[in-house]
Amino acid sequence: MNILVTGGCGFIGSHFIKRLLRKYPDYNIVNVDKLTYAGNIKNIPPPQDYNNFTTYTFDIGDTYIRSILKDHEIEVVVNFAAETHVDRSIHNPVDFIQTDIVGLINLVQAARKAKVRRFVQISTDEVYGSLPVGFEADTVARLNPTSPYSASKASADILLLSYFKTYNFPVLIVRPCNNYGPNQYPEKLIPMCITRLLENKRMILHGDGDEVREYVYVEDCCRAIDIIMHKGFDGNTFNVGSGVRRNNREIMSAVLKEVVCNQARIGEEYVKKVPNRPGNDSRYALKCNSLWKSQFLRSNFKDRLHLTIEWYKKNYKDWWPYVDLDANIYKDEEYLR
Ligand SMILES: NC(=O)c1ccc[n+]([C@@H]2O[C@H](COP(=O)([O-])OP(=O)(O)OC[C@H]3O[C@@H](n4cnc5c(N)ncnc54)[C@H](O)[C@@H]3O)[C@@H](O)[C@H]2O)c1
Repeated sequence: MNILVTGGCGFIGSHFIKRLLRKYPDYNIVNVDKLTYAGNIKNIPPPQDYNNFTTYTFDIGDTYIRSILKDHEIEVVVNFAAETHVDRSIHNPVDFIQTDIVGLINLVQAARKAKVRRFVQISTDEVYGSLPVGFEADTVARLNPTSPYSASKASADILLLSYFKTYNFPVLIVRPCNNYGPNQYPEKLIPMCITRLLENKRMILHGDGDEVREYVYVEDCCRAIDIIMHKGFDGNTFNVGSGVRRNNREIMSAVLKEVVCNQARIGEEYVKKVPNRPGNDSRYALKCNSLWKSQFLRSNFKDRLHLTIEWYKKNYKDWWPYVDLDANIYKDEEYLR
């Protein structure tokens, strides 16, 4: 099978490429990534080590994508390419609309022309918006996005489902919850906490930290995407959850105990409080489809968080030397001034 992965130098996409190379040596994998601040060429194995892996650096919004689909006789597209950080979408929504909607449609038009067999769109649980305690979103739940990021992802989902109805475009939509694991850019909560503590800086807490998110380990998410890509039916949407739901303070406390010591408590010594982000959703929770049974993941959060922290301890300085740990976080204060 010839597969185009977009955004493969980012966090989840790079783990997906590594999984494909490991599990399916007879597949040809092509990666297209613009290498924005969030992409890192070190996330993927060197293409010269493989005769079935090629990578290109350009934008999914570029019409050159047509040649890639044609030249590599692409059959399946898995689209991870996106602007992904909510805080950044509040500062600069246009970038999100440009990549997550306009760029996506350029890719989709090219994929239609190339008559691909399957198009897997990686969406997000954030499209459902905030859910009251006791509720879980199934895939027919109302879309209620509240940030420019989640609204651009929801728009993409609606457009893609219209393409399925109108043109029979073979799309599958995957909505994962928060991923965590190695190689994640340290602006997201878990790697932000780990890397800042490793640098003897305080973790940043937005508001009171009561917001609940669901967390899946990145390799489990990639396993789910693999199953869905092979077994899902066109036009369907799939939630990828884990049942692991934690508020931000609980996450910080778990990271603190692992990185510093078991007795450490979240307080001023380790936490810098900043005002909450505007429109911060209070709770996400997913109900998963039969293709992805998440129940058995509930018990493994502690072990996988440990693996994640060990990876950052060992790798993050070499892996991403130019990351400015203060760069994206303190900008939050700018728009709240
Ligand atoms: N990380 C999560 O917790 C999470 C949860 C649910 C859904 N998602 C979705 O999964 C996908 C991947 O997320 P991630 O966390 O790996 O993202 P990421 O920010 O780590 O990586 C995104 C990648 O896309 C590339 N990219 C950005 N704009 C591009 C463009 N115009 N053309 C080509 N490449 C471009 C970047 O260079 C980067 O390598 C996204 O669509 C995101 O919405 C992520």
